[in-house]
Amino acid sequence: MFQFPEDFYWGAATSAHQVEGDNTNSDWWEWEKRAAKASSGAACRHYDLFRQDFDLARSLNHNCHRLSVEWSRVMPQEGRPSADQLRHYQEVISALRERGLEPVVTLHHFTNPLWFSRKGGWLNRDSEKHFLDFVENTVGALCDKVRFWVTINEPMVYVYHAYILGVWPPQEKSFLKARCATGNLASSHIKAYQLIHGIYKKKNLAPPAVSIAKNLQAFEACIPTLKNKFAVYLRERGFNSAFLERLVRHKAIDFIGVNYYTRSLVEAASWQSRSLLLDTCRKGHSRLPQNTLGWDIYPEGLYRVLLRLKRFQLPVFILENGICTGDDARRWDFIREHLLALGRAMQDGLQVRGYLYWSLLDNFEWDKGFDPRFGLIEVDYRTQERRVRESARRFAEVCKTGKLE
Ligand code: FCB
Repeated sequence: MFQFPEDFYWGAATSAHQVEGDNTNSDWWEWEKRAAKASSGAACRHYDLFRQDFDLARSLNHNCHRLSVEWSRVMPQEGRPSADQLRHYQEVISALRERGLEPVVTLHHFTNPLWFSRKGGWLNRDSEKHFLDFVENTVGALCDKVRFWVTINEPMVYVYHAYILGVWPPQEKSFLKARCATGNLASSHIKAYQLIHGIYKKKNLAPPAVSIAKNLQAFEACIPTLKNKFAVYLRERGFNSAFLERLVRHKAIDFIGVNYYTRSLVEAASWQSRSLLLDTCRKGHSRLPQNTLGWDIYPEGLYRVLLRLKRFQLPVFILENGICTGDDARRWDFIREHLLALGRAMQDGLQVRGYLYWSLLDNFEWDKGFDPRFGLIEVDYRTQERRVRESARRFAEVCKTGKLE
């Protein structure tokens, strides 16, 4: 049995492009039409149905909800914020507050305005300036009702897919470009951190808590050769730690937002840097159960990555953790086992603010389309009907009592 603290935040996360629908001014929308297998289309029509979805979250005893504000809606053109869209997001945040749900607001969750990507996206020297313009407008409009800000979701996952693997827009495959984009994302966060704190100060509001959502993976050597162990070390540094350390050095992070899903079984084919940094076991050596995307299910990994965060001496907030599966009993097992791992880390002295499951709803899973089912709530995409899954009800019990048997 584990008892979570009384003031713990419980809930689920979404992101704008994955649930809202008709996100027509974004680089992803354009890319889906041109190059992708799947198109986000109407997604979950959450843009219109948000109140109903938040009613469901509340009925499941959530007291917190993470969502993202869509940059391409707020700034459909360079330098021209849309008052209508800012009003929309004010209504969204108010709807959360009215239901007793603490909003955690992400500013960049993989998508960019089309005009921004046409100017070179995150490779552009002015990317920071453009992003800050959006941040200033959005935070200015929402600050009186928001305490938790996440500037950038999973910067390294984004860079990896968009600039190294080339499977997300803008489909680059270049370490040099990846490095440039990473630098711009990091400096944009640091400036945004200062800007957000400045806005709250000027308005005499209590200081907000600002972070990123950092995807952490449990890297493990497939066969423990020297080469594989070295590759694990490099990835632990390059993927898990470097970005966070940079923000800590700049004193630009108030808590550590963690997204955790899986482990990565490292098997480097050669000593070349590409192999050391990217290769994973392709021979099916993993004996762990997997989700429907083939990701290993490994709660122990959550415990391990969390313990490594203790050195930062900052509170941690789990901003995403979840499973896509057709077997809902497995979803509940997944949640339970990961919460137990989280509890163990807390018993070992880690300070944790909350746990948000990914995701509230089934949704558009990027280049994988609508097949993966991550939701606590099932979505029928033909009718837009919602159906609460049994796992959501089990989780709701924990949200209510803070108790895990
Ligand atoms: C994370 C993303 C989120 C979702 C989950 C499954 O990497 O932040 O948008 O796609 O994976």
